Amino acid sequence: MPDRYAVIGHPIAHSQSPLIHGLFAQATGQDMTYGLIDGGADEGGFARALAEFRASGGRGLNVTLPFKLQALAAADDASEDARLAGAANALRFDGGRIEARNFDGIGLVRDITHNLGAALAGRRVLVLGAGGATRGALRPLALAGAAEILVANRTADKARTLADELAPHCGDCTLHGGGLDALAGAAPFDVVINATSASLSGDAPPVPASAFAPGALAYDMVYGKGLTPFLRAAQAAGVTRVADGVGMLVEQAAEAFAWWRGVRPDTREALARLTVPLA
Ligand code: ATR
Repeated sequence: MPDRYAVIGHPIAHSQSPLIHGLFAQATGQDMTYGLIDGGADEGGFARALAEFRASGGRGLNVTLPFKLQALAAADDASEDARLAGAANALRFDGGRIEARNFDGIGLVRDITHNLGAALAGRRVLVLGAGGATRGALRPLALAGAAEILVANRTADKARTLADELAPHCGDCTLHGGGLDALAGAAPFDVVINATSASLSGDAPPVPASAFAPGALAYDMVYGKGLTPFLRAAQAAGVTRVADGVGMLVEQAAEAFAWWRGVRPDTREALARLTVPLA
């Protein structure tokens, strides 16, 4: 019997995870299946689906919105990335225990450094937004060697509070937070990441052209939407290196796959299949 995995969320029909993990399994010769579970909108839906999946022999789950917080709460063990993110996006069921990880941040780092060939070590990084997506990204960006990270958010206090909370976990990196208005006087950044949910509503946080250093990378965490308003604004500011979050999606999946199966898949085919041209 093949080992069973799945992604759980609500809604979930749009998920690309079965395609990605199917490609990984085929390429690495792993005997496994990967399905979709809709955890439903009612309270208790996630817990019920989790219990059923485990009882029927399921080995691991990817977790997406809106269950990432519940997934962490359900775990017996969690990695530091998951604890600091306050959310889990991967679970593994091992001898009656539930282990939790959050691979979103490391997926982002791998995409930036491996796929896009942009350096983080010693660089200045601007992260826009102070929600869950930013929370999961800060420590991995810092551990990848970023010299300084500014979290800039529409609601400045949220960015300051988040930066203060995570700074002790970010090694030598200088992490600070503030409002979007503070960007006007700031030194330019080598990597500018849009981690707000603005792109989902066709909007963009206002970023002055002066925020982008020469040769900067502009990265939008959303994927499959072509050029988002943020990426368009970056291009208008003269930025030529723009990327959406498709590589982050594929790389976090590869991390989960490696954790479950003990073999790291090559991500190039999945990336090629999922990439929507930025035009
Ligand atoms: P996620 O878990 O995806 O990060 P979230 O926790 O709801 O989502 O956070 C959304 C982030 O996007 C917040 O930082 C929000 O700014 P506020 O804290 O000021 O609400 C930011 N955001 C959403 N829409 C935005 C917009 N149109 N312009 C600027 N920032 C926006």
